[in-house]
Amino acid sequence: MDNSIKVFAPASVSNVGPGFDILGYAINDIGDTITMSLKDENTIEISCPGFDLPTNPTENIAGVALQALLDRLNSTQGFKMEISKNVLPGSGLGSSASSAAAAVFAANELLRNPFTKTELVEFAMMGEALVSGKPHADNVAPSLLGGFVLVRSYEPLEVVSLQYPKALMTVIIHPQIEVKTAYSKEILPKVIPLALAVKQWGNVAGLVSGLASSDYDLIGNSLQDVIAEPVRSALIPGFYDLKNSAVENGALGCSISGSGPSVFALCVGEETAEKIANGFKAVYDKLNIDYKIYRSFINEEGTKLIG
Ligand code: HSE
Repeated sequence: MDNSIKVFAPASVSNVGPGFDILGYAINDIGDTITMSLKDENTIEISCPGFDLPTNPTENIAGVALQALLDRLNSTQGFKMEISKNVLPGSGLGSSASSAAAAVFAANELLRNPFTKTELVEFAMMGEALVSGKPHADNVAPSLLGGFVLVRSYEPLEVVSLQYPKALMTVIIHPQIEVKTAYSKEILPKVIPLALAVKQWGNVAGLVSGLASSDYDLIGNSLQDVIAEPVRSALIPGFYDLKNSAVENGALGCSISGSGPSVFALCVGEETAEKIANGFKAVYDKLNIDYKIYRSFINEEGTKLIG
């Protein structure tokens, strides 16, 4: 592509235990790459070699996000982009968010940065509605901004980058099965008993406070999801064996990444991360289901230009 730029957007873990739709963090090494150039004509051309994804911009997550950005600018320009996907759709690792974040970041660069990274979250999140029926920002915000991010409010959108201990590591197992976000949302309870809600918001506040003060006991005690996990765990073979094994091997906590099937653990130190990864392997080797395992510090940079 002539005059093109290349952008990388990391995968992410959303919800992070109790923070359904409001908490997420970015991870290293795995993410989507987009090569993009500007066009004078107001159309969006999409290709995604090797993946059977819609190339019609109104049906493609990154296309929808780009159109939202162009509409805000009343722009008469358009884009040509090639998406190189590494985050598999239906993985629970923010696949759609990585593509949407990379797309809006690249577009913003090509248009000479009319928006801040934080402002881009709103456009990137529009793509999410295509996958899950409702825009949510707990993957796109960390993918764009890096680090741990809180979506404090949706209307109006307000995202807050959180303090967290830099020693924190994550171990993720991605069983090679697909869980559709829309289905995983549909099975959730529509009404939450007050007693459960009290537990959940206590844990969200505890987690945020523990992250800010590097209080690992508080982080561990707060990494509990009493609303989505009990329902969604049924979609993930061996979920409770993974969770027990992670905790036995020194994890601060372990829960479902996004809408699943990936499962994440948080821990401190590479040695503990290695033990947790080996424990995950042992559980899944017995199940005869393929899997991938990732170990990573929290990605601090978020979406970035790589060429
Ligand atoms: N917060 C969203 C959910 C993430 O749990 O449904 C979807 O990947």
